Amino acid sequence: MSETAMSQTYDVIVIGAGAAGLMCALTAGQRGRRVLVLDHANKAGKKILMSGGGYCNFTNLYTSPDNYISANPHFCKSALSRYSPYDFLAMVEKHGIAYREKDEGQLFCVEKARVILDMLRSECDRVKVKIQLRTRIELISKNTGFRLETSEGEYACESLVVATGGLSIPTLGATGFGYDIARQFGLNVLATRAALVPFTLSGKMQEKLAGLSGLSLPARVSCGDYSITEDLLFTHRGLSGPAILQLSSYWRPGEAISIDLLPALDVEEFLSQQQSRHPKMELKNVLAEKMPKRLAQRLCELWLESRAMNQYSTGELQALAQQLQHWHFKPSGSEGYRTAEVTLGGVDTRELSSRTMEANAVPGLFFIGEVVDVTGQLGGFNFQWAWASGWAAGQVV
Ligand code: FDA
Repeated sequence: MSETAMSQTYDVIVIGAGAAGLMCALTAGQRGRRVLVLDHANKAGKKILMSGGGYCNFTNLYTSPDNYISANPHFCKSALSRYSPYDFLAMVEKHGIAYREKDEGQLFCVEKARVILDMLRSECDRVKVKIQLRTRIELISKNTGFRLETSEGEYACESLVVATGGLSIPTLGATGFGYDIARQFGLNVLATRAALVPFTLSGKMQEKLAGLSGLSLPARVSCGDYSITEDLLFTHRGLSGPAILQLSSYWRPGEAISIDLLPALDVEEFLSQQQSRHPKMELKNVLAEKMPKRLAQRLCELWLESRAMNQYSTGELQALAQQLQHWHFKPSGSEGYRTAEVTLGGVDTRELSSRTMEANAVPGLFFIGEVVDVTGQLGGFNFQWAWASGWAAGQVV
């Protein structure tokens, strides 16, 4: 028997039963393509189940190319414009899934994230996509089509779609396999980095802030040219919260960050007003009017000597304002891929068609989702990229 006769043959094989892979599979299935999805994990869509604190922030109504980081910021435009958040929402509504809008266009499920995975699986079932889990892919070769040797046997296909995601959270099945496939076929892979990830602090700094663990407040955080105002969370290992997660995508190890602890306030003006109104009040109590009491107290113990307001000179009040609004320090690192929500970098977009996600030099080979060098900000943008890139490939595979 020939090798092809021994293999099970499909039109399309998708490697990775995550967000992008399932979207591509159901789209290709709707076109009548015979599709097999292979995944080494014991469950499909593990990240979908974990996402959005268990409620899956499945898209963002205000998605635009500006919400993505990539060496080629234009690459994502085509797919994002052809499959919009409203297209995904139409599928969500067709399945009667209840959702709610949190801040700024972020759509979350009302029930647990499982409803999104169930929806994708039922759309796959409807068009007879086969999803095969617990399958280790051992070898991929290409002749006219592709041949895959796996722990469960051999498979052949015309189109091979790589949807293996990034390196974040290995315990949820993440591997660098997609990058290996790209390299095997001569495609360039850009350096990867953990993103949307908490910062860790060094020994002394960590000790000083340890008592603040669990405390959260709105803050403006900056590094380089990037800054954002969002909630900042003190943790037992460092700093987190949406502000820090967003900042981490723009931060490079060794770089200092700056924090404005009172972003909505002219602090100098506020302190001098309080000095005239409450000359006997201590600084820590004045600050506690504008920030959590525990933080005001700790800042005074550590850096800002707390005295009665009438004991500060104008110059000292200016210096205090400066300290509170420009708190500079270097995080010792990030929590890394262990807890990062996404991976920056990946398959170089110059190697791919922005319309179809097909490798320019390898007809029939496609890369979609997070494995590609397109990384969204926090707020549903990463799933929208997974849906849009999966849909774009699903139209042509
Ligand atoms: P994804 O990682 O979803 O899927 C890849 C699949 O490939 C997995 O099933 C994996 O098992 C499989 N695979 C890997 N290696 C393999 C191999 N060697 N052989 C076979 N299969 C292999 N985004 C967002 O927009 N809103 C949100 O609310 C959240 N929340 C969130 C929470 C947490 C905790 C995380 C970690 C991430 C998020 N994200 C998010 C990001 C989002 O989950 C992510 O960007 C998408 O899942 C990426 O979709 P992909 O399909 O590209 O990869």
